Amino acid sequence: MRILAIETSCDETGVAVVDDGRHIVSNIVASQLAHQDTGGIVPEVAAREHLRALDGITQQALNVAGVELRAVDAVAATVGPGLVGCLLVGANYGRGLALAAGLPFIGVNHLEGHVYANWLYEGDAPTPEPEVPAVVLIVSGAHSDLVLMEGHRRFRPLGRTIDDAAGEAFDKVGRLLGLGFPGGPAIERVARDGDPAAFPLPRAALSAYDFSFSGLKTAVLRLVRVLEAKGEVPVADVAASFQKAITEVLAEKTARAAAEHAVETVLLGGGVAANLALRAEIQKRIGHPLRVPPPRLCTDNGAMIGAAAFFVLRDRGTEVPVSVRSDMKLA
Ligand code: KG4
Ligand code: ZN
Repeated sequence: MRILAIETSCDETGVAVVDDGRHIVSNIVASQLAHQDTGGIVPEVAAREHLRALDGITQQALNVAGVELRAVDAVAATVGPGLVGCLLVGANYGRGLALAAGLPFIGVNHLEGHVYANWLYEGDAPTPEPEVPAVVLIVSGAHSDLVLMEGHRRFRPLGRTIDDAAGEAFDKVGRLLGLGFPGGPAIERVARDGDPAAFPLPRAALSAYDFSFSGLKTAVLRLVRVLEAKGEVPVADVAASFQKAITEVLAEKTARAAAEHAVETVLLGGGVAANLALRAEIQKRIGHPLRVPPPRLCTDNGAMIGAAAFFVLRDRGTEVPVSVRSDMKLA
């Protein structure tokens, strides 16, 4: 089963060819550089950029895979959650391709994509499939969800952020420290030279599995203002202290979820899962195997949509009628 998959929910235009939900045949991702100037994503600009990029990137994905459109078995695209204009561009483009080539179209939940990124491999040697049930932490620019995956496509929400997403907190602190957008990778880089114990920062105490990051963000803002007034902001120390605070909270709740449910594995997904400090914090708290996609499969890409689409098709056995939903939840 060979699927051509399209991801346009936010600011990455991704198209991939994926076999049997696991093997990446090609995976082209174009990040929209336009947003670096504005320091954040402007939805209309993002939608227009997807429209402009999609044809070329789709062609590239097919070329790299060495296949023509009629040689694939289905076309998939993200239908939510995400920016509605962006979702519409990718979903309509995918539906158009499917219609023209007489192929089934599969609408995919972006969050399922982040989960199923853990099933992907490149090259000739398949990685072992992650074992379920699993506890899954999805941490991205828009989401911080702790989920129990009871089986394929069977998800039970455990907790989520009540305010900012983890990636959003990284991005806001990154901007505050003058590190540009997106803030996550930049904070991780400069934090390597910083002291994570330099500044005490709050860890919000909430119900077992929910997160809150807006208090932490405000505390960093206040700290930076105080340091500025003193004349110098030790950026590496602030970044390291912030990263320590946020990764500890994420890790503690993930580890608690793993301890309190009978699961085989802990899976991570979403852009923030690329963060090595987060992985280390989680790994040292759990006895389970920890699975994390390689960094370029943690951030948004088409391959993860191709992986999730395979399991949708296997599950439903037919094409899935879809309309775009910006606030789509994990089933
Ligand atoms: O999954 P993703 O590409 O897009 C969404 O679905 O939102 O995640 C993007 C987010 C951004 O907030 C970015 O700052 C964050 O992931 N991110 C990281 C790292 N790489 C990306 N955060 C922390 N450490 C990283 N290495
Ligand atoms: Zn994402």
